[in-house]
Amino acid sequence: MNTKVIVCMEEDDKAVLAEAGRIIRQGGLVAFPTETVYGLGGDALNPLSSQKIYQAKGRPSDNPLIVHICRFEDIYRLVSKAPAHRKMLAAAKRLAEAFWPGPLTMILPKSEEVPFETTGGLSTVAVRFPAHKTAQALIAAAGGYVAAPSANTSGRPSPALAKYVLEDMEGSIDMVIDGGEVGIGLESTIVDLTVEPAEILRPGYISRDMLQEILGRVEKDEAGETGGQAPRAPGMKYRHYAPHGDMTVVSGEKENVMAYINEQLSLQKKAGKKSGVIATDESAARYRADIVKSVGSRADELSAAKHLYTVLREMDEEGAEVIYSEAFTGKGIGEAVMNRLLKAAGYHMVQV
Ligand code: TXA
Ligand code: MG
Repeated sequence: MNTKVIVCMEEDDKAVLAEAGRIIRQGGLVAFPTETVYGLGGDALNPLSSQKIYQAKGRPSDNPLIVHICRFEDIYRLVSKAPAHRKMLAAAKRLAEAFWPGPLTMILPKSEEVPFETTGGLSTVAVRFPAHKTAQALIAAAGGYVAAPSANTSGRPSPALAKYVLEDMEGSIDMVIDGGEVGIGLESTIVDLTVEPAEILRPGYISRDMLQEILGRVEKDEAGETGGQAPRAPGMKYRHYAPHGDMTVVSGEKENVMAYINEQLSLQKKAGKKSGVIATDESAARYRADIVKSVGSRADELSAAKHLYTVLREMDEEGAEVIYSEAFTGKGIGEAVMNRLLKAAGYHMVQV
């Protein structure tokens, strides 16, 4: 298959988006930018489209997809209207008023219209209303319901740039809409509203504190955080975002972290291994590795979120065999950065 690439920085490029929407309505796949990462879109209400998405990603089909909408009211077609579920929908409405459109995904009991192929066999559905204008216009052109996982092949970092979508997907999807670099760089926060209290299944830009302000107490799924055996978001159990190199996260006081990493780097050099360090603007000059990449300034953890996946991919491009990364604070967006770093490292962390 020939993958068509189109550049679209503005949502009002109607002709382009009409073509992309048509492809999705006819059962094809289109990758598109969102404010978090690039998504791989197909018709969420067409079971064949969902199967195609799993195929293109090489993703296990028990790993459910997020359904993207472009107006709050479209949620009603996706979720159960049973009286027992009314409270959950009311909570969704309150969260939507505060955070939609935006980087928040809500889990709710599904309606009969959502095929089990889209939800990985679950009786719940994940719904998100993204803030990105091109994404919104595409969803509208595609009929209003677009299933979209991150547009990477399974096990690779989510793409923050269209070139990484192509690297993983060229030849296996119909179209890529190149809208430049994404804004946040890490996937949306996922909150499960089918349990009481609500539970965060994947940390992201919308933090626990922000959710608690609207809902009261909100829990965290610890298995999704620590690599435990049975995380409640099926996708969190797979080794994800993993570079090819052997990766270790180093946590502790900053001088100790730098000293420890430099010590390890000399050992790796003796062993003839190509080394990489994931550093910050403040520390990058201090490392003696073959490849040193800064994810941005410590004073701005949003920049770390934005660049992390790209830096992980660059480590692969440049052939890093061992990778050391500084740790992040674990507060706000830093928590999401740390969650993805630990996954990339297969939960291998050293405290110094
Ligand atoms: O920011 C994002 O959410 C991006 C962009 C494209 O919107 N999408 C994304 O999708 O990250 P994906 O498929 O890479 O991750 C979806 C996660 C998986 O871990 C999946 O297991 C979980 O959401 N999930 C989906 N439906 C679920 C459900 N019904 N119950 C529990 N977890 C669910
Ligand atoms: Mg993903």
